[in-house]
Amino acid sequence: MRIPDKHILVIFGASGDLTYRKLIPSVYDLYSQNLLPEQFGILGVGRTALSHDAFREKMEDGIDDFALTTKDKEKKKAFLNKLYYYAFNTKEGNEYAGFKNELLELNHQLNTGNNFIFYLATPPSMYPIIPKYLAKNGLNDETDGFKRLIVEKPFGYDLESARELNHSLLKEFNEHQIYRIDHYLGKETVQNLLVTRFSNGIFEPLWNRNFIHHVEITSSEDIGVGNRGGYYEGSGALRDMVQNHLLLLASLVAMEPPALINADSIRNEIVKVLQSLRPIPVEKVEEFVIRGQYTASEVKGKKRNAYREEEGVNPKSRTETFVAMKFFIDNWRWAGVPFYIRTGKMLPTRVTEIVIHFQSTPHHLFANDKAIQRQQNQLVIRIQPDEGLLLKFGMKVPGAGFNVQDVNMDFHYSELSNTYLPSAYERLLLDGMLGDATLYSRGDAVESAWAFVEPILKAWKERPCIKVHGYPAGTWGPDISDDLIEGAQTWRYPCKNLAGDGDYCEL
Ligand code: BG6
Repeated sequence: MRIPDKHILVIFGASGDLTYRKLIPSVYDLYSQNLLPEQFGILGVGRTALSHDAFREKMEDGIDDFALTTKDKEKKKAFLNKLYYYAFNTKEGNEYAGFKNELLELNHQLNTGNNFIFYLATPPSMYPIIPKYLAKNGLNDETDGFKRLIVEKPFGYDLESARELNHSLLKEFNEHQIYRIDHYLGKETVQNLLVTRFSNGIFEPLWNRNFIHHVEITSSEDIGVGNRGGYYEGSGALRDMVQNHLLLLASLVAMEPPALINADSIRNEIVKVLQSLRPIPVEKVEEFVIRGQYTASEVKGKKRNAYREEEGVNPKSRTETFVAMKFFIDNWRWAGVPFYIRTGKMLPTRVTEIVIHFQSTPHHLFANDKAIQRQQNQLVIRIQPDEGLLLKFGMKVPGAGFNVQDVNMDFHYSELSNTYLPSAYERLLLDGMLGDATLYSRGDAVESAWAFVEPILKAWKERPCIKVHGYPAGTWGPDISDDLIEGAQTWRYPCKNLAGDGDYCEL
């Protein structure tokens, strides 16, 4: 395994939740697997005044609660000694000189060769501001060492703001210095999509409109908005999940084979898919997109609040906590194949999966039995949990006649001898440190995804007559989302266990 060059990782927003729950535990996991360079440090930046030791103590709790590797006491102590903290008001341009001094001092002390990674884990309003002041202080200049920017989501609020953000970042930094995070690309099972498709001779020849009937992608969560009501209220499921994670999954399912496994080749293919999405006209949004919001109910004997009762949420809110939609990809491979995606909070279970529904056989030889209902092979690619692959096919029921029943052939990651699945942040941080942007989003892809959701946002804003359907917390969203699917098909209603479908579970 390649070890990154020496550097300092500067985290803006170091007193926030993301740093505590994801970033520091992930860097610790890298450290405990000996994947960090010898000369390395983390400089946390926040507004709250904290001593280095107080910051270390707080981060130790985060490691204890969220790191995935074993927590060896000595290792943890050595790692915590690499953590430093500096408080300043990042909105004030004149405070950056002090920050720069601190950083250069640390760089000198740790001998990190002027290589810096700046991670923006702040509220999005700071994304254009911090890079501007970094650049004013020469901290974008790579003549004496690399300078990289990692930008958290949300990248923009709509097409215009995403364009503005790209424009403002590109004024100060080059594209190769900018790493836009979509943590779904960091997931092992999402990367496995490429391997499943492009390393198996049996799938790729069938992977097109001639053999695939439709594609279904679900990303459901069984929790509500928790303490993020304030953020979510201004976002909603379309911005929070569809514009980024779900369109990314659809792109990986639909993309052409890249020429090479590198940042340019893969990202070129992703952007081509996003540019081929058939726009949904504003006046047709209701036909193609269903929005919903959870209402109060009782789940497993526990009372669940309605979304409108959550902290930070407008009691008359029309923000969607559920989206289901149908769309098409206008290119040679996918012409006419419907893609269905759905995501929501407070659904029965937490599952992300892709279901490829193959065309049924051209002639139903065994049409007098259950095969008539089945008719289609399905390949289920489970992203989480119970990560794995499931292929459904018809088998003869032993005995007289030719009765057909559906059976499962399944592989679970848990069956591998080395079952350590690195977290998405661990993988992405390591790649950022190595200067590999393959699993980060490129500016044009982010803008294309925004361009696709733009008419939906516009329709919802300008046409209040478009219904926000209520669904009781703990159910699979508004019933009407079943009507999106063409023909007699329905969504697959997945369980926690990959192969445990067909039962009505979780409720
Ligand atoms: C985040 C969203 O990007 O993804 C959250 O802001 C959502 O609302 C989360 O809960 C889901 O990520 P995961 O990795 O748990 O599927």
